[in-house]
Amino acid sequence: MAQVRRNNLRPCIRLLLLPLLAVTAVSAGASPVTSGDLYALSKLKSSLLSRSARNSTSLADWDVATPPPPSSSPAASHHYCNFSGVTCDASGNRVVAINLTGVPLHGGVLPTEVSLLDALASLTVAACSLSGPIPASLASMLLRHLNLSTNNISGFFPSGPEPYFPSAEVIDVYNNSLTGPLPPFGGGRLRHLHLGENYFSGGIPEEYGASKQLEHLGLNGNFLSGRVPPSLSRLKRLKEMYLGHDNVFDGGIPSEFGELEALISLDMAHCNLTGPITPELGRLTRLETLYLYSNNLVGKIPAELGNLKNLVNIDLSFNKLTGEIPASFAGLTRLKLLNLHGNELQGVIPEFVGELSQLEILQAWENNLTGELPANLGKNGRLLTLDVTDNRLTGAIPPGLCAGRRLQFLFLMRNKLSGPIPEDLGNCKTLAKVRLNSNFLNGSIPAGLLDLPMNSMVDLSDNLLSGELPEVIPSAGLGFLSGASNRLSGPVPPEIGHLKKLSLLNFSANALTAGVPGELSHCESLTVLDLSRNQLAGEIPTEITNLKVLTMLNLSRNSISGELPLEISKMISLGVLDVSYNNLSGRVLQSQLQGVFAVSDATDFEGNPGLCVERVTAASCSRLQRSWRRDDKTWTMPLWIVPAVSAVVVAMAVYLGLKWWQAARRRPAAWKMTLFQNLELEMDDVLGCLREENVVGRGGAGTVYRCATRSGAEVAVKRLRGPGRRDHGFRAEVATLGGVRHRNIVRLLGFASGAEGSLLLYEYMPAGSLGTVLHGERGALLGWGARLRVATEAARALCYLHHECKPRILHRDVKSSNILLDSAMEAHVADFGLAKFLCRGASGSGAVAAAECVSVVAGTYGYIAPEYAYTLRVDEKTDVYSFGVVLLELVTGRRPLGDFGDEIDLVHWARSAVPRPSDATAVLAVADPRLPPEPAGLIAGLFRVGISCVRESSQARPTMREVVHVLSSFVPPVADPSNSTSALSL
Ligand SMILES: *[C@@H]1O[C@H](CO)[C@@H](O)[C@H](O)[C@H]1NC(C)=O
Ligand SMILES: *[C@@H]1O[C@H](CO)[C@@H](O)[C@H](O)[C@H]1NC(C)=O
Repeated sequence: MAQVRRNNLRPCIRLLLLPLLAVTAVSAGASPVTSGDLYALSKLKSSLLSRSARNSTSLADWDVATPPPPSSSPAASHHYCNFSGVTCDASGNRVVAINLTGVPLHGGVLPTEVSLLDALASLTVAACSLSGPIPASLASMLLRHLNLSTNNISGFFPSGPEPYFPSAEVIDVYNNSLTGPLPPFGGGRLRHLHLGENYFSGGIPEEYGASKQLEHLGLNGNFLSGRVPPSLSRLKRLKEMYLGHDNVFDGGIPSEFGELEALISLDMAHCNLTGPITPELGRLTRLETLYLYSNNLVGKIPAELGNLKNLVNIDLSFNKLTGEIPASFAGLTRLKLLNLHGNELQGVIPEFVGELSQLEILQAWENNLTGELPANLGKNGRLLTLDVTDNRLTGAIPPGLCAGRRLQFLFLMRNKLSGPIPEDLGNCKTLAKVRLNSNFLNGSIPAGLLDLPMNSMVDLSDNLLSGELPEVIPSAGLGFLSGASNRLSGPVPPEIGHLKKLSLLNFSANALTAGVPGELSHCESLTVLDLSRNQLAGEIPTEITNLKVLTMLNLSRNSISGELPLEISKMISLGVLDVSYNNLSGRVLQSQLQGVFAVSDATDFEGNPGLCVERVTAASCSRLQRSWRRDDKTWTMPLWIVPAVSAVVVAMAVYLGLKWWQAARRRPAAWKMTLFQNLELEMDDVLGCLREENVVGRGGAGTVYRCATRSGAEVAVKRLRGPGRRDHGFRAEVATLGGVRHRNIVRLLGFASGAEGSLLLYEYMPAGSLGTVLHGERGALLGWGARLRVATEAARALCYLHHECKPRILHRDVKSSNILLDSAMEAHVADFGLAKFLCRGASGSGAVAAAECVSVVAGTYGYIAPEYAYTLRVDEKTDVYSFGVVLLELVTGRRPLGDFGDEIDLVHWARSAVPRPSDATAVLAVADPRLPPEPAGLIAGLFRVGISCVRESSQARPTMREVVHVLSSFVPPVADPSNSTSALSL
């Protein structure tokens, strides 16, 4: 075999020899060379399929058991040349190419014997779920083309021996889990080198600048550091260079990069660049794409960039750039994408921007831009997206934004724009989202704007719009419609019921008249309905109680009359009801205090003199009770009963007054408590517990006290920071959280709110938090088995929140101090969904502001997923990341921050201390030293799950369902964690 592998004959010579060998094969019956290829393919097959199910159909036609029959003619090709994905040379003898793109291999491994295929010139095993390392033997093959992209390959890239990939023209290992330093490529014939989206670390080797033929260099999405070597400027044929995304370089863009004369695409986004944008980039006259976003670049945008006549895409967003948009940009006539948002730019958006004939996307939000939008913007007929939110723009909205009938996103909110909304937007069939809120726009809403087929969102709130609401036709698919705080008048058109997908409807604070249309009940997706502060009259149509997913109904401050429909209490989804300040009447008995009535308080009903909700609106009830009695007396009672009844009424009034007075004394009027289950606990008991000696914990969200009920049971009372939250959102959210039931979730027992604050009542967990146990003296008592159990229980709880709750709940603050332990050391996850409340008060225009506000709070430093830093979005995978940090804490016994020197946290430390998570020895070296290094399989398994959860790319992280699946399979002691599911590609 060794002899075959060293067969380094140059290809041309080999070609000459092949017919000769084939002739030999005929005479000898079997050729050692050809059966060598079959042998290599058999090794390849068994290794590639080693991890997959026995009955996998992948490579099913690779019949490696049949030996090649003696060829009757030298021209007949061998049967393995017909294996799927296998290509032989013209003579049909030697395998020259293998392409298994997309064949599912379920964690198979590339065997070292692949190098026996010494005629192989092209090897492509892309997107196959390949795992394991890259065999070092590949480096000495005569491969011209190697593509192992989009797999789960781990370990170091082979660094030798010499000669190193002597024939390589294309090396593509994009999107794997490779670690260690970048491989030593340099010189040679290499045209295409893609090492992006791995975990390579260290600097970019100087010798990369010696690859004279290189046209494509991809190093993006790694953990590279150091200065970007100016020697890369020697790559005179380089067309594409991708260096950004998660690399953390020192310094700025080398000015030598101005010499990369062939460069067409340069991506250095999000890689910690500092200093100014080097004006030398203006010499790259072939450049079509320049991405420098999400760095710390300062200074002005160099006027020289206006020389980049071929530029199509320029993205300088999220830096600290100052000054104005250069006048020289008028020369960028091929520009399609101009992104400047998130800087400190000032001055105007120059008129020439409206003349750029190819412009499709213009984003300049969050700057200090002033002046008017270019009058001709959109007239080029190509505009797709315009977002200039959060500037100080004045003047009118240009009329031709949708001239080409292509505009999809129009975001002009929070400026000082005035004048009418162009009528033409009502015919802009492509429009998907329109947000013009918080300006000074006047005139009426253009006809057709609510009917556009693609339109999912219209936010016109906080303007000076007047006139009636336009009509709505059945085709429309609008999901979000707000025109709050305008001067709109006339009725809410009944046709609004055509909007089957509408989930939010807010026309509060206008001058709408007529009634609440019963047709709203056809808006079956409606979750928020706010028509407060109008002049609506008539009754509340009972049909709207058919809305199955409505969570908030606000009809306050209108002139609505009639009875409050009791059916409202049957609306299971409804968490907030406000009908205050209308002319509603009727009586809700104590026994009818169900559903939303049970979590409402007096403010939700006040200002309706004829309405009595027992126990809630005490004052109006007792007044009404008196008048009801009076009515009864005058209408139905014989005269002789009057004195008796009067006596009873007086007695009752005295009794009720006494009760009320007692109640008022016992419960400070400022507090209202809602319990989700029967607890022998009164408000003053709870208030009595809020003393320093009862404090059991303090955290970002507030202080936790321990409190005993009258029956001796214990509860934990969490006092949230900040002033009281009487807002409806709070109570609705808490009511939702109170409905969550899972064995491993700390149960929310109730809540109280008042002017002085908000309290949440939880089950009490006597053993404290995982954080205190683990990082305290008792950490040694938590053995490996217990740690696995805690991890699994906490994972189950998160899995429940993510995948079983409807709507799903994000925890947003997963950390070891939010995992509590009961007396049996069983884990219970606490504080889920709480981070949401902490930004309340910054209320802007309704649900959108709330949603934006929500994502401002993303948990605790040390546990925050990296994507949060640049997307400000949280999703399930943000929780998964935080949970991964908890797993790493469990394995290492270390805190997430603090012990790792400058700017390094547990995640980065663990990754660099254990470059290959499959290396059990390295894992044991970082394991909690207080515990024995046994069982090694379990420790290594936990560690690998942890590392997979903290992957940089959120898509690459497993879901909590997958995590639970794997953790549950680690029944300790686990002999070999590699047996666990490959879905997780640990
Ligand atoms: C074989 O395939 C069947 C159905 O496709 C599947 O249920 C079974 O789990 C597979 N067997 C193994 C060993 O994976
Ligand atoms: C491999 O096959 C895929 C499709 O199956 C094809 O798109 C790709 O170009 C092929 N690659 C090579 C190097 O032949």
